[in-house]
Amino acid sequence: MTDHQNISLDWMSSDGADLRPPADLRPEIPHPARMYDYYLGGKDNFPADRDAAERVMALGPMVKISALANRAFLQRAVRHLAEQGVKQFLDIGTGIPTAGNTHEIAQQVHLDARVAYLDNDPIVLVHSRALLAASHGTATVVHADLRDPAAILADPEVRQLIDLGQPVALLLFAILHFVDEADDPYAIVRQLVDALPSGSYLALSHGTSDFVPPADQGKGAAVYRSATAQLTTRPREQVLRFFDGLELLEPGLVTAPLWRPDQEPRSTDATTGIWAGVARKP
Ligand SMILES: C[S@@+](CC[C@H](N)C(=O)[O-])C[C@H]1O[C@@H](n2cnc3c(N)ncnc32)[C@H](O)[C@@H]1O
Repeated sequence: MTDHQNISLDWMSSDGADLRPPADLRPEIPHPARMYDYYLGGKDNFPADRDAAERVMALGPMVKISALANRAFLQRAVRHLAEQGVKQFLDIGTGIPTAGNTHEIAQQVHLDARVAYLDNDPIVLVHSRALLAASHGTATVVHADLRDPAAILADPEVRQLIDLGQPVALLLFAILHFVDEADDPYAIVRQLVDALPSGSYLALSHGTSDFVPPADQGKGAAVYRSATAQLTTRPREQVLRFFDGLELLEPGLVTAPLWRPDQEPRSTDATTGIWAGVARKP
């Protein structure tokens, strides 16, 4: 889309859901979901998103490499979790739908897999609802903020789809770096994991500056200061803390391309700017 007026959607889904865009899209302010869509080569972004994304991408090819590697990790992790028998997924920080969304991957393994998508960006909700109108009730999308885990756990749509008495995969892909220390991301993750039964999983990915030269550190975060959410990259040992009390699956917390790779190694794999891991709740 090129501007607010050009969003072309059928405003009524086949089951009668209202798909009109909400009033608070704020196209003049860069949104992380739409910037990420641009990194991935998507078209669901506005000029302000593209300008900001271009400024981040000007820092080097690793930005796009990391976004693509994150998305590929999401797909391998979801497939692996489904193959472990998980049929329920709580995917927080969904992003704008693109090829290989969580429910599509999970339902290749279990036709009856259920996915609750949650995001705080209205554009994500519009596009997800259009996609999910065809999912026959096995997936839903909820407007929610990760920083309010109690509301997520109590949400009626989430509770209708996800049985918290059965194992759940909690997916936090490329979202925790939008939660700064003041909001205590560790307590948020703990509260969500505590609500899940034994045999549940936490899969997460997180942006890092561990491989960025000191002179360039902070430049990406500076661009995000004009966006709706701030960027807080974290070093590996801080990302590892999110898995406290859980059993990390092999190969542990690694850069995204190195988590159970399914393609030929590339020279950038070990320095890709995303930490990735999957752990089981004992
Ligand atoms: C970089 S995208 C990641 C999308 C997808 N999870 C993936 O890894 O491909 C981050 C997403 O998190 C969402 N997000 C950021 N902060 C959030 C918050 N506090 N609560 C809910 N969603 C949030 C953004 O709107 C965006 O859709």
